[in-house]
Amino acid sequence: MQNNQKIIAIFGAGGFLGKHLMRKLTKLDYRVKVATRNPYLKGYLKPLGSPGQIELFKTNIFNEDDVREVLKDCDFVINLVGILHETKKQKFSQIHSQFPFMLSNLCNEYDIKKLVHVSALGIKENHDSKYMQSKSQGEKNIKEIFKSSIILRPSIVFGPEDKFFNTFASLAQFSPVLPLIGGGETKFSPIYVGDVAKAIVKSLELDNLEPKIYELGGPKNYSFKELMEILLTEIKKKRFLISIPFGFAKFQSYFLQMMPNPLLTPDQVELLKHNNIVSGDYFKLKDLGITGTPIQDILPKYIYRFRTGGQFG
Ligand SMILES: NC(=O)c1ccc[n+]([C@@H]2O[C@H](COP(=O)([O-])OP(=O)(O)OC[C@H]3O[C@@H](n4cnc5c(N)ncnc54)[C@H](OP(=O)(O)O)[C@@H]3O)[C@@H](O)[C@H]2O)c1
Repeated sequence: MQNNQKIIAIFGAGGFLGKHLMRKLTKLDYRVKVATRNPYLKGYLKPLGSPGQIELFKTNIFNEDDVREVLKDCDFVINLVGILHETKKQKFSQIHSQFPFMLSNLCNEYDIKKLVHVSALGIKENHDSKYMQSKSQGEKNIKEIFKSSIILRPSIVFGPEDKFFNTFASLAQFSPVLPLIGGGETKFSPIYVGDVAKAIVKSLELDNLEPKIYELGGPKNYSFKELMEILLTEIKKKRFLISIPFGFAKFQSYFLQMMPNPLLTPDQVELLKHNNIVSGDYFKLKDLGITGTPIQDILPKYIYRFRTGGQFG
């Protein structure tokens, strides 16, 4: 271990984004402290660095002593903790608002150089979605408390193991129809997971004394319907795209939300009522010197497994 290695604490590193970020950080010689609820399930992270470069900590993010243990001796902190739907025990407000509040206070106390917080694109005052309300409050907490922070707001993130394309491709395996909620007109700016990871790395190098917000979108906006068409072309399947009005989708979502990994919740129906694209009111991906990767360059490389015959299909 070199003494000049900078130490980064990452909360939520075992998820989709964290896995893609880890190798970029270890290649740059950072030492990484991973805070996770279940280190015994996160062994796959260790080979992404040299021996001793990645350390796993069993952390309950609501136990201040656990969080202090991770932050001790760190230079930088990255927060990737997030959920898409609530459960009886996990509420948006705790995960997206209260944890950032505690984390930013502790970052001040431990003299952390930079806090990079991953939020979500589409945040605005008085959003009807509880997910967005909680993400918005989380950002406010960080901005008020920890000045040397960078807030990144990605649109839908795609790449190997993403939830978006993989979920709909799985659905197309057995369902003759794919739903277009609200007609599938909602627009997204899908961004490659590797580009979000690059944005996080670049953020660590910024020298800001006040919080900065970056909206992260890919090179092109697509409607939900266009994304389903791209997906179906790639997996070489013909499926009916059925338009479902928001009201009926909301009704269905009350039942679907009872599933362990719900395909749709009432809160997500609220999210789908708003476009999820870069507004132009904040810094963007290109302000970090990154050019967005088109969907067409990446999607075929991992979604082929849903074709009949796989890569030979
Ligand atoms: N993926 C996207 O399309 C997308 C789009 C916009 C914004 N974002 C945001 O980007 C961030 C990372 O997303 P992701 O796709 O990598 O999510 P992910 O794969 O679901 O990973 C989220 C991480 O959050 C942690 N977490 C969840 N509930 C927790 C709890 N109760 N206590 C402690 N940790 C908890 C988990 O860590 P452990 O299991 O290790 O404890 C998990 O590794 C999130 O804030 C998300 O909201 C993602």
